[in-house]
Amino acid sequence: MLYNWTAIKGIRFEDLTDRKIIEVSVDEKRIALLKKDEHLFAFAATCPHAGAKFCTGWLDVQGRIVCPEHKYRFEPTNGRNTSGEGYKLRTYPLEIREGLIFIGL
Ligand code: FES
Repeated sequence: MLYNWTAIKGIRFEDLTDRKIIEVSVDEKRIALLKKDEHLFAFAATCPHAGAKFCTGWLDVQGRIVCPEHKYRFEPTNGRNTSGEGYKLRTYPLEIREGLIFIGL
């Protein structure tokens, strides 16, 4: 798959807080970023179930994203809906280049 790699402006990897989900805007898309155990993940900022914002969500003890609205859970590596409701969270590839974060859209 070919991606359009775009720098996420104003945010550097080392500035992010571990296990905290933040929301950023890239090319008019709303993207959620999560740093966990020195890895970085990007996914759609809103839940595929009913559109709640993940930036007010959290991680469970297994490191899965928990939606703040109905508590459905998603695997940050691949967007799998691990609580079993059949949804799929869109995820995006990332690269760190000289401290800057690039996202593949
Ligand atoms: S809006 Fe996320 S689980 Fe319902």
